[in-house]
Amino acid sequence: MRLDRFLAETTSLTRSMAKKALHQGLVTVNGEVVKKGDVQITDQEVRYQGQVLSLRAPLYLMLNKPEGYISSTEGDLHPSVLNLVPPEWREGLHPAGRLDLDTTGLLLLTDDGQWSHRVTSPRKELGKIYRVWLADDLGHSVADQFAEGILLKGETKPTRPATLEVVSSREVLLQIHEGKYHQVKRMFAAVGNRVVKLHREQVGEIRLDPQLEPGQWRHLTPKEISSVDQGRL
Ligand code: URA
Repeated sequence: MRLDRFLAETTSLTRSMAKKALHQGLVTVNGEVVKKGDVQITDQEVRYQGQVLSLRAPLYLMLNKPEGYISSTEGDLHPSVLNLVPPEWREGLHPAGRLDLDTTGLLLLTDDGQWSHRVTSPRKELGKIYRVWLADDLGHSVADQFAEGILLKGETKPTRPATLEVVSSREVLLQIHEGKYHQVKRMFAAVGNRVVKLHREQVGEIRLDPQLEPGQWRHLTPKEISSVDQGRL
């Protein structure tokens, strides 16, 4: 990779600030001052103001999100899920998809923007499986209505076909292939019911590890990371 890009990826410098730093002679490659940004970096030692710089391998984590945490990177009234991972990893780390404050379960975190884009891209249509607890007994026709697609309040297009598996009269597993705002809660509201608890169990082929207690995380395996591109493990 080019030296100016390497600087931008390993420091908080922007590409133009990196150019300036190079020009000022603040960057060395294998001990020599280098002022040109187009020098190719492979395995040389690069220092900025004397500090050795290194590219960190991208992070891919699964978190069992507890209630009371927000999925954006900065908390306001409530803490961000980023507070649940080591502070030195937080820069650039973001959730690939969001869960509501009161939703629990599988949240994927990464600092690889392209990977998170593939997880959330509507074109990929990755299935997401939610365990849903309802306030009222499930109506008889709901599975058929969800399979056909229903019109949510404020939307012009129906939802994509979703699959409903009945666990009991007030507990279901719902698989959806899109991620509209508050989608699951709105789908049940549209059929006259109310979600009282929502827990995400799976995204694509990545299942929430049952060993993870709420608030705990683990690294994704290489198979889980690549399943997003292959569509299966
Ligand atoms: N649908 C919802 O309504 N809430 C979530 O957190 C996720 C999906």
